[in-house]
Amino acid sequence: MTATRSQRLTYAAAQTARVAFYGAHYLAARVLARDAFSTMEKLPHGIPSLRAMGKAMAALFARDWENVQAGLYPMPVDIGESLKRASNSLRYLTDVPRVVKRQKEHGHSDVPEGEADLPRYFRQNFHYQTGGYLSAESAKLYDFQVEALFGGTADAMRRRAFVPLAKHFDSKKRKAPPKIVDIAAGTGTFLSFVHGARPAWKLTALDLSKPYLARAKKRLGDAVEYIAAPAEKMPLKDASVDAAVSIYLFHELPPKIRTAAAKEIARVLKPGGIFVLADTIQYGDVDGFDGLLDAFPQLLHEPYYSTYAKTDLEKLFDGAGLKRVETDIAYLTKVAVFAKPGARRTAHRA
Ligand SMILES: C[S@@+](CC[C@H](N)C(=O)[O-])C[C@H]1O[C@@H](n2cnc3c(N)ncnc32)[C@H](O)[C@@H]1O
Repeated sequence: MTATRSQRLTYAAAQTARVAFYGAHYLAARVLARDAFSTMEKLPHGIPSLRAMGKAMAALFARDWENVQAGLYPMPVDIGESLKRASNSLRYLTDVPRVVKRQKEHGHSDVPEGEADLPRYFRQNFHYQTGGYLSAESAKLYDFQVEALFGGTADAMRRRAFVPLAKHFDSKKRKAPPKIVDIAAGTGTFLSFVHGARPAWKLTALDLSKPYLARAKKRLGDAVEYIAAPAEKMPLKDASVDAAVSIYLFHELPPKIRTAAAKEIARVLKPGGIFVLADTIQYGDVDGFDGLLDAFPQLLHEPYYSTYAKTDLEKLFDGAGLKRVETDIAYLTKVAVFAKPGARRTAHRA
């Protein structure tokens, strides 16, 4: 597929505007949170230069554009959706001082009373965010906060998790569309992109947060099935899904829960199915970026992050019976693909 000059310019203009807009919000939040930056403990590793980060960011967008040109997904420019999200600017800026206050006080148990059976590790103010994952207000702000944190690159990083799914399913002749579960789907950002790119796929959004799922439903309506449940105990039948995906969940799980979730994923996948994990890069993944991994849990409440950043993912999923088939680095996100060994074909007698 050959893109026209105007398509290329539209893509470049849209991404540049995003980076400028969310980058400016990140800087504003950083100014308000300057005390937290100044009291940060000495980091064991160095922080990358702005030049190195800019280069890695440019590589992310270059690949994103290549994927559009290759026809893997449509041009990721949705003015309506972008304006809706951007309209949360004031809400975001008004909330920053509340986040900063928690950051200064290391307050992380200021969450609304959720349902009694929600696990304790979940009832925390991850990122010091207001309401944790337990309020409608938090669900409304979440996408903006993530984009601001990643300087406008979050959606482009998430889109990389779609590439292995498209490659896996587009190349196969199938009787029925694939059934795919997004584990910790949050507000449905990834699934709304998947639904736009492959409307026939059968999609399920699973998450522990009812307010986040309600936000996803507002966006996606009946195009998706919604399940409020933990990744480590999914109410899905054995071998019932063709693929599972999980974006930015594993770094928020305690180590034991990570192992349990890996086993659950292996259980619900059909033989031959794939699991696509997208989460932050880990130590050693990108030369010179390890200091970012040291700083992240110091600035934001991420109680399980330092164990995640050192976890051997291949070993974790191998222990559950899944084999790593591919790893791709998308700026600050790592996309790792694991496969469940296929069912043996019964040999035909001659
Ligand atoms: C950092 S957010 C990621 C959301 C979304 N995947 C994204 O790309 O933005 C983490 C999400 O994991 C959910 N979550 C945390 N622990 C969970 C668990 N044990 N089972 C299911 N969802 C969980 C939270 O409610 C939240 O929506």
